[in-house]
Amino acid sequence: MSIHIQKPEISAELRAFLDKPKKLLIDGQWVDARSGKTFAVEDPATQETITHVAEGDAADVDLAVAAARRAFEGGPWAKMLPAERASLVWRLADLLEQHADELAQLEALDNGKPVTAARSADVAGSIGMFRYMSGWATRLTGETIPVSSPGEWHAYTVREPVGVVGQIIPWNFPLMMAAWKLAPALSVGCTIVLKPAEQTPLAAIRLGELVQEAGFPDGVVNIITGFGETAGAAIASHPDVDKVAFTGSTEVGKLIVKAAAGNLKRVSLELGGKSPQVIFPDAKLDHTIVGTASAIFYNMGQCCTAGSRLFAHKKVFDQVVEGLTAEAAKLKIGHGLDPETTMGPLVSSEQHQRVTGFLQSGREEGAEVVTGGNVVGNRGYFVEPTVLAKTNRDMRVVREEIFGPVVCVQPFEEDDLDSIAQFANDTEYGLSASIWTQDLRKAHSLARKIKAGTVWVNTHNWGDAAFPFGGYKQSGWGREMGKEVLEHYTETKAVGVKLV
Ligand code: NAI
Ligand code: MG
Repeated sequence: MSIHIQKPEISAELRAFLDKPKKLLIDGQWVDARSGKTFAVEDPATQETITHVAEGDAADVDLAVAAARRAFEGGPWAKMLPAERASLVWRLADLLEQHADELAQLEALDNGKPVTAARSADVAGSIGMFRYMSGWATRLTGETIPVSSPGEWHAYTVREPVGVVGQIIPWNFPLMMAAWKLAPALSVGCTIVLKPAEQTPLAAIRLGELVQEAGFPDGVVNIITGFGETAGAAIASHPDVDKVAFTGSTEVGKLIVKAAAGNLKRVSLELGGKSPQVIFPDAKLDHTIVGTASAIFYNMGQCCTAGSRLFAHKKVFDQVVEGLTAEAAKLKIGHGLDPETTMGPLVSSEQHQRVTGFLQSGREEGAEVVTGGNVVGNRGYFVEPTVLAKTNRDMRVVREEIFGPVVCVQPFEEDDLDSIAQFANDTEYGLSASIWTQDLRKAHSLARKIKAGTVWVNTHNWGDAAFPFGGYKQSGWGREMGKEVLEHYTETKAVGVKLV
């Protein structure tokens, strides 16, 4: 593990963005918060203040929702042809592509993640999401229904946009989470109030500028930067928001459900995970070690899908643990803006305390620290990639989402898939799982027994705009991406016509 924490220069384009005042986007205008308040945005690698942004709260959410309502009910957006909507969404993707390097730098600075990963995953994935979803604008159709009632009938369904959508997103993939939320909602004709996480508001603001440059009508996309307990809660409980889409902690997901009950707004939730990785003795070990290490260390483990419980068959357990340790040692810890960096800091002081708290509790409960286990340096929120052995199902580190680069490894000797599925499924979460084997029968049979929204075979954390994603159990409600996400943002209207 090499460490090099020095902040490289940022581009002139990014500097210009950072130097501008950062306001709320309401009805096509950048405006200060009604309260006049702002809050500081921090570089998690240096703890320096990068810039300040407007602190929106309930009063600003009211204005944004009213603007979104006007844009939804009348005006150019409501009348726009599907092909015109598609081309606006595609144009937004083109603008992201034109500014791809700048956006990657922005993510590295604001979130801490390695700039190379931000460019190849976050920015590229966001572009892909807008392009894929743009196609649905002209392809989403209803059906004609062959009814059996006596007489002559014409019965059909139409898919209509659900209306004004509130979208609350987390800090682990700030740009990509905004893209996952905006792209389908815009493609089907909704209007939006988006709230980025308070730790990482910058990508959404820059995206808002590009939304305007692309030419979306005023009020279609409104962006309120602010805190969860104020701005977020106001969106979730707002009586004129038709649907709320949330990604974040399971704890807040439950608050969203309660807040949404007031007007029974539609709710979709992408929440936490404690995803298992199961390694069989016949797995291609070199490939598996690289893949399983990346499953937990990628994005500093701040992935809802992080492969944080690793089960390796007794026959290969020692090799796997050695391999993970070697992979951890290869990581280059540093400032996210340094192109050499492969592991940046955690996002915030709160997250740093949370992860170090889990490391402490793991030690207290008797886990063996095979590698890592410590903070790095005395500035910035760095922690070492960590492998914990001698872990068991009763430990907090095995039961709770850590959201850091910490993997709990456990050997197994069972060969029957039901027993394996039982320990893989031994969690209140059900977001994802990976299976590492060359045996097709094992892979597909175990995939059926796993209670999770995504099962990967010989890979982990892979995704595609066309590939649905979401959780079983307490990992959430509904699916994002693919055609499944369109369910979130549309209502089905059934029309029955008696042909008299
Ligand atoms: P969080 O769930 O509090 O924050 C996510 C988003 O929800 C942010 O935009 C936040 O402002 C908003 N929010 C917070 N409280 C709210 C409320 N009462 N009403 C409406 N919106 C609210 O997550 P946090 O505190 O940043 O992280 C805590 C833990 O949550 C992490 O350590 C991790 O375990 C988990 N998490 C999971 C994520 C995922 O992708 N599934 C993403 C982020 C965090
Ligand atoms: Mg929170």
